[in-house]
Amino acid sequence: MTQDRLLVTDTRTGRQYELPITDGTIHATDLRQIKVSDDDFGLMSYDPAYLNTASCRSSITFIDGGKGILRYRGYPIEVLAEHCSFLEVAWLLLNGELPAQEELDSWVALVKKHVLIHETTKKFLEGFRYDAHPMGMLISTVAALSTVYPDAKNVHDPQVRRKHIVRLIAKMPTITAYCYRHRFGLPYVYPDPELGYTENFMNMLWRLLEPKYIANPVLARALDILFILHADHEQNCSTSTMRTVGSSLADPYVSVAAAAAALSGPLHGGANEQVLHMLDEIGSKDKVPAYIERVKRGEVRLMGFGHRVYKNYDPRAKIIKRTADEVFAVTGYNSKIEIARELERIALEDEYFVKRKLYPNVDFYSGIIYEAMGFEPRLFTVLFAIPRVVGWLAQWDELLRDPEQKIARPRQIYTGHAERRFVPIQDRKK
Ligand code: MLT
Repeated sequence: MTQDRLLVTDTRTGRQYELPITDGTIHATDLRQIKVSDDDFGLMSYDPAYLNTASCRSSITFIDGGKGILRYRGYPIEVLAEHCSFLEVAWLLLNGELPAQEELDSWVALVKKHVLIHETTKKFLEGFRYDAHPMGMLISTVAALSTVYPDAKNVHDPQVRRKHIVRLIAKMPTITAYCYRHRFGLPYVYPDPELGYTENFMNMLWRLLEPKYIANPVLARALDILFILHADHEQNCSTSTMRTVGSSLADPYVSVAAAAAALSGPLHGGANEQVLHMLDEIGSKDKVPAYIERVKRGEVRLMGFGHRVYKNYDPRAKIIKRTADEVFAVTGYNSKIEIARELERIALEDEYFVKRKLYPNVDFYSGIIYEAMGFEPRLFTVLFAIPRVVGWLAQWDELLRDPEQKIARPRQIYTGHAERRFVPIQDRKK
């Protein structure tokens, strides 16, 4: 079979080029042969914010944004959310296959073995001000773990990588819970080895004087589902950061800290908190139409709607909406969910939003559920980071096994001065 090719005519020179097309892409470096002269650097592609650039080959997560499809390792997200536990999905993302029962049991046991954090790390956490933002605490603490596990820098050793992947997944809930309790001056609660991953997280967050903390099973399962939905999302901003930092062969702790820093921005992991602020601003269901009109006039933004890759309903949002019903049956309904549903109903019928393909995304309902479950909004981004660490690490592991990858080094279009004559300081004008 002949290879598909792109025929390019450079109108500057009249020359023609044939660029091979593989997997629906041309290789950007193939453009370099297109030159106007021998000393020309060659043609580059300009793609700020990587709107149309594939930076890697990946077999982890598939998204069809037009159709609203999300699959992990080929399995539809809806099926995984219905039938699997978060740690089962974590195994799938990391290993490419669903675990057999025996594999799952030993994986769960292994994660449990690593939930404790070093006592000096606890002291490190105590050094933060009482009102420190949990995301800042998490980012710094995860980076600090790089000093506790110096062997993690042997990133080319698959066994070392695996050891630290487990540690990171196991310790994220412990660090988060300690960050949370620090704010209230509550003593840190040690992990309970008898509990599952999410139940134990809830125990470390909320246990007070009860001899054993038993989470409500509906809420624990809802949290598990939310973790599954947030576990990976191919080359989003934080995952691309993980790959960029990882490409320099930095260790997984500092790389995860960098990815978490990217996630902390309001345009990424902080978006669901913005949705809650918007719902507060709207105040009641009857004020929704007026708010929609303000959105259309460009006065305010409709938070939690629209997504860079989904031009359809974000499949995660559909599952979260269903899960919300189960959570509210336990916690009781609040006005926010009513406002959100009305907002969605009106927006999905309105030509303005339909034409722009603005559908609810994962952030639209997640903050509402988290708040109903008792999580304070400051913790929302951390709740995103706990499961996303699995995706970051799966992608990092894939990067390090990929012979095509090198240190990330984009190019630029230089827009500054050409060479200038130096002016001594006494001759310079203000
Ligand atoms: C995510 O899950 O990372 C967000 O939806 C953002 C994205 O994919 O760009």
